[in-house]
Amino acid sequence: MKRDLITLLDYSSAEVLSLIDSADKLKKENGSTGSPRGGTVRGDLKGKSVALVFQKPSNRTRVSFEVGVHELGGYCLYLGPDEINLGKRESTHDVAKTLSRYVHCIVARVFDNKDIVQLAQYADVPVINALCDLYHPCQALADIQTIREKFGKFQSLTLAYVGDGNNVFHSLMVACAKVGINVRFAGPKGYDPNPAILKQTQGVARTNGCTIECSRDPQWAVKGAHVIYADVWVSMGQEKETAKRIKQFKGYQINTDLVKQAQKDYIFMHCLPAHRGLEVTADVIDGKHSVIFNQAENRLHVQKAVLLYLLS
Ligand code: CP
Ligand code: NVA
Repeated sequence: MKRDLITLLDYSSAEVLSLIDSADKLKKENGSTGSPRGGTVRGDLKGKSVALVFQKPSNRTRVSFEVGVHELGGYCLYLGPDEINLGKRESTHDVAKTLSRYVHCIVARVFDNKDIVQLAQYADVPVINALCDLYHPCQALADIQTIREKFGKFQSLTLAYVGDGNNVFHSLMVACAKVGINVRFAGPKGYDPNPAILKQTQGVARTNGCTIECSRDPQWAVKGAHVIYADVWVSMGQEKETAKRIKQFKGYQINTDLVKQAQKDYIFMHCLPAHRGLEVTADVIDGKHSVIFNQAENRLHVQKAVLLYLLS
């Protein structure tokens, strides 16, 4: 039976760990790290094509998938909102069935989680979630790869996420729960994580000996934390709420004052794109604790690991 990657909740801890191990190997073999990077081309995906169906803009996800497929010897085609227009120009069912006759894998960035679930249901080829309103699993895999690179382990670490309980946070807490990282969330009222996803993830965390805790207090969240994580206050598609959100998230900014509470060797993480002066100050995101471009680079390696896992 074909496998998809919609949410890491569908993956076992062993699968998640093996993806990270595979990503580390691919990174080493690729002659990375940093810039300029290596670029070994393997033949695993020779003769295989991957479609990127994107309903929203992207820098990291699009570029890392396109380059990743190239480096695995496959062919990648980008289909932006104007080409596919999922569910509007054509039903999701017909898009899934048609693309399954042309390509070996569909990577999709959509607004509504239901669209990616339906794509996976109707497609005869693996579907990878490149971000929806509920999840961003590829980001979370790159994030935990980065955390292990920095600390050499997952156990006995605490990650503090300050801000919106959104797609990035959902996938991040699931990934952490799978590998045993403690998570503390702090955000304003009205922006808590989805209660069903939280409950399920807390169950996963219990099995793996870690905790997922939520509060309104950013000071509590970052106290003694090894990792401090931020995402934008206004996600793609929420632009009309910008003024309201900026007002409500005030007090949840990561700044020099707040990070004083963290471990001395803490790392600052952000999935990017970032807004300096809003969710994080420039001195923190551009400072020596920041690992944002390692995270961005690891998208490439971990997505190659996902493609190899699902396609070979
Ligand atoms: N972090 C991330 O997914 O970035 P893009 O939106 O640029 O792909
Ligand atoms: N939460 C953000 C993440 C972007 C990578 C969004 O959905 O726009």
